[in-house]
Order: sequence, then structure tokens, then C-alpha cells
Amino acid sequence: MDEKTAYVDKHGKRTDGRVLNEVRPIKIEVGVIPEADGSCYLEWGQNKVFAAVYGPNECIPKHMSDPTKAIIRYNYRMASFSVPDRKRPQPGRREVEISKVSGEAFEKVVFLERFPGTQIEVEVEILDSNAGTRVAALTAASVAMADAGIPMKDIIVGCGVGKAGGHVMVDLNKFEEDAPDAVDVPMAILPSTDEIVLLQLDGLATREEFQSMISEGIKACKMVYEKQKEALKQKYRIPAEESMNLPEQGEGFE
Ligand code: CDP
Repeated sequence: MDEKTAYVDKHGKRTDGRVLNEVRPIKIEVGVIPEADGSCYLEWGQNKVFAAVYGPNECIPKHMSDPTKAIIRYNYRMASFSVPDRKRPQPGRREVEISKVSGEAFEKVVFLERFPGTQIEVEVEILDSNAGTRVAALTAASVAMADAGIPMKDIIVGCGVGKAGGHVMVDLNKFEEDAPDAVDVPMAILPSTDEIVLLQLDGLATREEFQSMISEGIKACKMVYEKQKEALKQKYRIPAEESMNLPEQGEGFE
């Protein structure tokens, strides 16, 4: 078997049976942690993620607060049992980096200036992993933000894209990410404008491959966005009999 067919067979199927532009199965549940202001549990293939949002609350320590806006504190953590070789519990460089870039993505969407002097904490815990956890975490965290009622100009939705065995594909699994020629591009967008709020690149790609990755990545993100919407509607859907009692638009709520 040559390098090309090791990752995609002659029928266009990947080793786990998916086609190139197919995302692994996703399940999202909203409001799973009662003590948090907003929360989400997400399964994406083998990846399992809990996200909880707290705030806006008074910023502690005070010297970190910004009198003009809220600050985002995003903590991405992997459980020791989430990877094949037990991970040391203390946060490593990788977790610090992921937390930083993910927090910066939220700074682009949350209306921070509405909550001066406060902090919004986002805690993400990876329980099980098989590549693509940072984008799964961002996707879950964004649903938790919406569940917490934090005003945002759009939701953030992420998906991995890249290359294995010479093929551009979306949502690489660990086997594909470990290909000798692998390119790994985690990305996250705002689905109503296609604005990119997170983009990282690990590996080497031609300009054409990179352009194809971005357009395939955006399409994949939009598929994931549908799952986010479905999950939020599931929690906040107003039962038919209640919606009949709501005032007509313009009638007022007083
Ligand atoms: O998970 P993501 O793709 O965002 O990040 P990565 O750094 O590209 O890691 C890819 C995968 O490697 C993770 O999803 C884990 O399954 C695995 N990994 C691991 O086995 N041990 C670690 N200490 C870190 C990651």
C-alpha cells in the first residue's frame, strides 16, 4: 500500500470510513452543570469535553481587572486519563498555549465593554481525546457562553482541517494527524460572517492546498454550527402552549 492509499482508499474512504469532507459524529448537550452560569457537554468522535462558564463576576485578583471592559480567562485542561500515556495533572505548555489562543478568540466576539472591571471564566475539561480537542473545546465553550446569556456578536464554531497521505481532509483523527506528511490546521470562525477567530498551522502545505483547507474548513464549521443551534434550541425551545400566551410583537411585555 502506498502513502496515498494508506489514508484514503480507492473508493475515497478514510480509515474510519469517512469521506474527505465528513466530520465525525457530534453530540451536544446544553446546561449540564447546574452550578455554572452556562455549560455544555460535547462528544465529537472519541473527543469528550465539558465546558463551564462563570460570570461576569468581580475580577480577582483586582490588579488584573480592566476598568473599561471584562477580561476573559479561558482554561483548557486535559484529564490525566484523556490520553493513552497518563498526562501529568499540572498544566503544560500546550494547555497554556491553547488557553491563550482560545481566550483571544472569545475577546473578538463577547461585548466585553458592557461589563467593565469583571472577569468571565471559561473552564474546559477534556475527558477523552483523539485529535481536534482545541476546536471541540472552543465549540463547546461557545455553547456554554450562549447558555450563560453572555452577549456575543456571534457564536464561535471550530473544526480541524488538514492533510494526510497527500489528501486535503476535514476533522483529522489522531491516526491522520500522525501521518508523515500531515498538516494540521485547527480553525474557528464566526458562522454569520466567516470571520476567522482562530487559525493555527502545523506542517507544510502549498498555497493551493492551504486555500482548499480554508474553504473546506469553513464548510465543515458550518456543519458543526448546525449542531450547536440544534442543541441550544433543544434547551430553550418554548413549548407550543406557552408560546401561544406570549404577547404579539409590538404589544409590549409590561
Ligand atoms: O487535540 P488537538 O488536535 O487540538 O491538539 P494536538 O496538540 O494537535 O494533539 C492531538 C492529539 O494528540 C490530542 O487530541 C490527543 O489525542 C493527543 N495528545 C496526547 O496523546 N498526549 C498529550 N499530552 C497531548 C495530546
